[in-house]
This record gives sequence, structure tokens and C-alpha cells, in this order.
Amino acid sequence: MSDRLRVAVVGLGVGFGHVAAYRELSDLYEIVAVCDPVASKVDLAKRFLDVPHGFESFDDLLAHDGIDVVNIATPPDLHVPMVKAALESGRHAICEKPLAGSLADVDALAACEQQSQARLMPIFQYRFGRGVSRLRRLLEAGLPGRPYVASVETYWRRGSDYYSVPWRGRFETELGGVCVSHAIHSHDLLVSLLGPISRVYARVATRVNDIETEDCAAVTLEHENGALSTLVATLGSVREMSRLRLSFENLSVESGQSPYQPGSEPWAFEAASEAVQGRIDETLAGFDPGPELYAGQFAAFHASLAAGAEPPVTVGDARAAIELVTAIYHSSRTGEPVDLPIDATHPLYHGWIPG
Ligand SMILES: NC(=O)c1ccc[n+]([C@@H]2O[C@H](COP(=O)([O-])OP(=O)(O)OC[C@H]3O[C@@H](n4cnc5c(N)ncnc54)[C@H](O)[C@@H]3O)[C@@H](O)[C@H]2O)c1
Repeated sequence: MSDRLRVAVVGLGVGFGHVAAYRELSDLYEIVAVCDPVASKVDLAKRFLDVPHGFESFDDLLAHDGIDVVNIATPPDLHVPMVKAALESGRHAICEKPLAGSLADVDALAACEQQSQARLMPIFQYRFGRGVSRLRRLLEAGLPGRPYVASVETYWRRGSDYYSVPWRGRFETELGGVCVSHAIHSHDLLVSLLGPISRVYARVATRVNDIETEDCAAVTLEHENGALSTLVATLGSVREMSRLRLSFENLSVESGQSPYQPGSEPWAFEAASEAVQGRIDETLAGFDPGPELYAGQFAAFHASLAAGAEPPVTVGDARAAIELVTAIYHSSRTGEPVDLPIDATHPLYHGWIPG
């Protein structure tokens, strides 16, 4: 592997944010190509961001030599076929959330990754915030103690402008609503901190916009380690904010309230005693988690390839997120709790799209 990975960014909405992150990491990545059917976006990237090659067709991009990583930021219904094609062409694939619209598709992508020499990394950039990285460091040191409860709040606002983009708000193309497209980040963050879920009870509703997918949700979770948590999500909040609160035996933790960067600073830690506080201060002294968000995740991906290790976010992590979504829809539709893990015999294993 050459030191700098040659990356192609596919889909130029949030993909422009990916381009910016790769440019921040110019010692690790070289952006060699972009791809979008909208020619003006491709021209913009070539003219103003010095990207050497631009394509309006994904097949043409894949036929181009000299690409190590295909970074996919297209509408959700295109993720599975594009990831599969990228892996089959021998390129590493990095893909925006949601990776897929069913557990069957995630499992198929996992098999595809196993059969190839290339790696697949789903994007969950909230994990790479400097605030949550400090909590992760404390967890690695065993300082928080037993987890008791947690709450995750996703209070966002989306209106008719947002839903004027044709792929949004429809199951066929967006694959779901607030649980699939928006709160999935903070829900993944919670699971990365508290561990696997064993039971889900959920209610979802469409109350804010005139759309097919849900825009409000209230969920309770039991984790395998006995911790309990709640998730509340809406796209109708007047004030936008995201927040995680976690209560451990030795520590109370509260994230910042930035709606789209709750993993970033400030995170507040309140220790049960001065002795614990002293050990926290010692553990965090001089700790520098490095770059954060997209740049943090892409830098960690580069490091994992260099070390021959698993990507920092794996297809297994995406499976856990899609498993939670599957359980939320099933619980909400049946009125019953759902036990995890969910296997191929579950009625929603092949997807949750109604009808
Ligand atoms: N991680 C995050 O915080 C975050 C934020 C926003 C969006 N997203 C995700 O990123 C993805 C894209 O969302 P967006 O808001 O940028 O959407 P968007 O509609 O603004 O942009 C998508 C782009 O993909 C292009 N595209 C469509 N078909 C294509 C094809 N066949 N080949 C190449 N490009 C194609 C479109 O022309 C468009 O420019 C979605 O999965 C969304 O959920 C993630």
C-alpha cells in the first residue's frame, strides 16, 4: 500500500464535506476523482478544489485506474449496489449512513467484504468527537464503573425545503425517517459506549411533515450488561439540539448540545468522589484524540489499513445500527418488545419498507 491513499468521492452533497476532510489529511489521502450526475458539481470540484478527474457515471469512475478508496455519499438506496461494485473492483469502500435498508443487505455486504481483499467502513463520524473520545478513554481505563441508565435526545428541525429533494421522505429511496437518517448517529454513539442491546420497545409516528417516513420516535432499550436507556427523536423541534446523558456507578456524563456534533466538546464529567476525580484527571492529562469527525474517522481508517487491522467502524457496527432500526419498526408496528439479536428468520430481516 502506498502511503497516500488515492480516494474518489461519489455524490457531491455532503460529499463536498468529505472532500474537505480528505484535503485536511493531505499527508494521508490524495483526492483523485469525484463523481456526480450533476455536471456543474463535478466542474466545481475540478475547477475550485483541484480534483484531477471528474465523472458523471459511477461505472466510468470504477473503470478508472489509480483509485484505492471509493467514498460513497449518494442517496441511501444507491449505497448497497455501489459498495458491492467498489469492493468487487478491489477498492476499499467508505459509505455514508445508512449503509443499507435491511439486515439481509448488511449481511450480504459483510460476505462481499470477506471475499475481497478490500475493506468496508461505514461512516459514523460522531464517534470521532473529542468529547466522546475522552469518555472512551475513561471506559478503557475502567473508571466509570457499572453503567446504570442513559438517555439520548435528537431534537432536530426539518421542513418542506428539506423534503423538496425527491429522494427524501420516502421509504424506497431514503429507506426510513428520523430513526434511519438522522438519530442513527447518536444511537450508534450510545451503543458504542454502553454495548449491545438485548431488548427494544418503540413507538414511531409521522407528526411534523407530510411524508411517508417517521419523524418522531420514543424508544426504550435494555442493554446486554443490564443498563437501561431511552431514545427520543423528532424533526420538529423549534430549538435544535442533540444530547447524551449517561449515569455510571462512579461518573455522571453529559455531552454538549450541538445538534450535529454531540460527540465534540464540551463533555462534562462529574465524579462520585475526589479520589475518582483525581484518577480521571490523571487518565486524561495530556490526552490528545487528534483530528475529529470526518477527518478523525478517515485518519483512523488509514491507520487501520497500515496496521492490517479492522476499520475503526466496521460492517458489524453498521449491522447493530440497522438491527436497532429493524427492531424499532417491528416493535412500533406490533406493539410488542423485540429481543435482539435478530436473525434471518425475523419477519423484517429482508427490510421494513411497508407493503
Ligand atoms: N454523516 C452525516 O452527518 C450525513 C449528513 C448528511 C447526509 N448524509 C448522508 O449522505 C448521503 C447523501 O446525502 P446528501 O444530503 O448529501 O444528499 P444530496 O441529495 O444533497 O446529495 C447526493 C448527491 O448524490 C448525487 N448522486 C445521485 N445519484 C448518483 C449516482 N448514481 N452517482 C453519483 N452521484 C449520484 C446527487 O446528484 C447529489 O449531488 C445520504 O445517505 C445521507 O443520509 C450523512
